[in-house]
Amino acid sequence: MRPRAMIHSLSRAQLAKPADALHPPLIAEPLIAKQSRPMKFFIDTADTKDIRELAATGLLDGVTTNPTLIAKSGRKMLDVIAEICDIVPGPVSAEAVSTDHTTMLAEGRKLAAIAPNVTVKVPLTPDGLKTCKVLTDEGRQVNVTLCFSAGQAILAAKAGATFISPFVGRLDDISQDGMQLIADICQIYKQYPAFKTEVLVASIRHPVHLIAAAKLGAHVATLPGSVIRQLYQHPLTDKGLSSFLADWAKTGQSILDDTAGPNKAAGSAAAE
Ligand code: E4P
Repeated sequence: MRPRAMIHSLSRAQLAKPADALHPPLIAEPLIAKQSRPMKFFIDTADTKDIRELAATGLLDGVTTNPTLIAKSGRKMLDVIAEICDIVPGPVSAEAVSTDHTTMLAEGRKLAAIAPNVTVKVPLTPDGLKTCKVLTDEGRQVNVTLCFSAGQAILAAKAGATFISPFVGRLDDISQDGMQLIADICQIYKQYPAFKTEVLVASIRHPVHLIAAAKLGAHVATLPGSVIRQLYQHPLTDKGLSSFLADWAKTGQSILDDTAGPNKAAGSAAAE
């Protein structure tokens, strides 16, 4: 299509916004109403050294763990959860491991008693959702995990879940579009303001997942420490910083030491 013909094919609304018309956004609108609070970052690990290091950035809002991550830590679950709760004041997900409602509920109550910021994690099964309902009715926070469909996310919201955890990376692994699931859940929850469940994007493998989730307005992302660190990186940042510092070094100045670098008299003489 010739450029002029292209312009004629654009709608009146597109012509009113020329930049958008030429560069249509990949995802037009956040699918959850614009959040009044920033996206929350949870770290997805039971490694307390990693948690301490990243908590020091001031960017961590919570932690998620699962039985695999606890096993990897090599420590007793109750001890590691208690230590994590001391490091991070935000929600710390600790997962129940029984599959029947009665035992899962007992485990959930025991985990919740560790600290006020424990969020009990339950699987997306009939017994898990039954447990979710009882625990949330008791005023506890519940994270419903292992969500792989929008229908499951509706059930979790109806069960009063505090968080729903759709696993994007594991869907991508089986050639399904994990991020499409986030879009679907955000769109559905937006239709029902009475659903208070927050979308916690889980199984994130790389920064592109995080950015796509943020564009959709997802409330929370749980990230491995490696992905949080990747978010800082850009080769042009490194290149730009090293050239700024090389030029600065040539001046001989120091911001903290007024005596370093060219003296005022030399500076004004050069200006004349
Ligand atoms: C979330 O709570 C899970 O612990 C986690 O995100 C699973 O991620 P994985 O698919 O990389 O194991």
